Amino acid sequence: TYLGIDIGTSGLRALLVDEKGAPIGATDRQYDSDHPHPGWSEQDPADWISALEAAISEMREKFPAFADLRGIGVAGHMHGATLLDENGEVLRPCILWNDSRSHAEAAQLDATEGVRRLSGNIVFPGFTAPKLEWVRTHEPEVFAKVSKVLLPAAYVNYYLTGEFVADMSDSAGTSWLDVGERSWSDHLLEAGHMRREQMPRLVEGSDAAGMLRESLAQKWGLQGSVTVAGGAGDNAAAACGIGALDEGQGFVSLGTSGVLLAARDGYQPAPETAVHTFCHAIPGRWYQMGVMLSATDSLNWLARIVGKKPSELTAALGDVLLPPGEVRFLPYLSGERTPHNDAEIRGGFTGLSAAVSQEDLTRAVLEGVAFGLRDSFDALAATDARMDTLIAIGGGSASRYWLKLIATVLGVPLQLPASGEFGAALGAARLGMIASSGVAPESVIAPPEIRDTILPEEGARDAFEAAYQAFRKAYPGLKSIQ
Ligand code: XUL
Repeated sequence: TYLGIDIGTSGLRALLVDEKGAPIGATDRQYDSDHPHPGWSEQDPADWISALEAAISEMREKFPAFADLRGIGVAGHMHGATLLDENGEVLRPCILWNDSRSHAEAAQLDATEGVRRLSGNIVFPGFTAPKLEWVRTHEPEVFAKVSKVLLPAAYVNYYLTGEFVADMSDSAGTSWLDVGERSWSDHLLEAGHMRREQMPRLVEGSDAAGMLRESLAQKWGLQGSVTVAGGAGDNAAAACGIGALDEGQGFVSLGTSGVLLAARDGYQPAPETAVHTFCHAIPGRWYQMGVMLSATDSLNWLARIVGKKPSELTAALGDVLLPPGEVRFLPYLSGERTPHNDAEIRGGFTGLSAAVSQEDLTRAVLEGVAFGLRDSFDALAATDARMDTLIAIGGGSASRYWLKLIATVLGVPLQLPASGEFGAALGAARLGMIASSGVAPESVIAPPEIRDTILPEEGARDAFEAAYQAFRKAYPGLKSIQ
């Protein structure tokens, strides 16, 4: 059997699959993020390890096939800086992808000669290099002790194998990697005041990173040796989970962040569009994506404010797509990446009247997120990425209403996979399988069976197009008053 682990922003998911890659069973554990200041977002890496150990205990009890484990793949939320001292101890909480404290450092790095050209991307505040620049300035005593910087998935790989190894797809989001060459760049490291020996060894996501430590294998009741794959950033892993390897294949993910991802046939960076261009988790491939920072996070925020569950809010809208509402929501609760690259912008509601109800606000939030995804869609389309159909994944895709709305706003059919397992944990398990068995990635990374296709509502497209154009005009207005 093979194990996929997804270190998500709100919790960990562990998925066991059989020799053919079919799911046997899964388990989840939640953990929190800390927000000690506005715009900050941190996690204690020890929480990932406790969640992992708890998940493994449950798996061992529930699924006897766990004892036959051969391979593990780990996926993680991207860009997080886990700083280790010379003894491999964590120096401070991990600074996450949705933390915007280092926006000034990011802007400075982004303006440095050669940085966009080599990294293939804007240096967004959420990326890793500006975080280290922030630590250098604000926590020099910590910076002086940094012996290794690991992304969350690589930190878990370190726990599993005892080795400092990182995969290409996740490393592409550091702004230290030459994304076209798939190697650490001396120029980028120097620009970020980092040294090569502080970087983990690079491997492809589907290659072996190392073997499971003997002591862990014993603790987990395993007999044979277990290969740990390079693993992946969660978006590349999700692309492996839904079989997106070739041009024309991609997904829309409604998670804490909203992601529109398109697999590409080659390396075609387009940083000026605020699209992300990263290495895929298997050799010689890349993908592009637009990222919005608050997707389900926007709905969760509204649910918290009104004291309801997100699912109660969406259920109240029913299943029939309503025309665009009078109220508009600007989904910039944590700033925005694609297309604005603006860490400081904050969200807003417009069009409020005394008659506005809770349902109107929910509708506005769902529409605002759909329009944010449309921004990413247009940015991706400008790079000639093909998105004929998209597979819908992530917690928010449980809302049929939201999917219908997004299909209509994008003008693209959305496909819903038949089984419940097709996300980053499945992609990670597939990488574990490829790394330990040596099979060709293309033979394992296949699209799922599709249960349902949600078509754009043609009759509503013009109205939503007009509403989207109005949404576009709101950002500069909002910007001018903040
Ligand atoms: C991608 C990004 C997010 C995280 C969330 O660039 O920052 O999608 O990976 O898990």
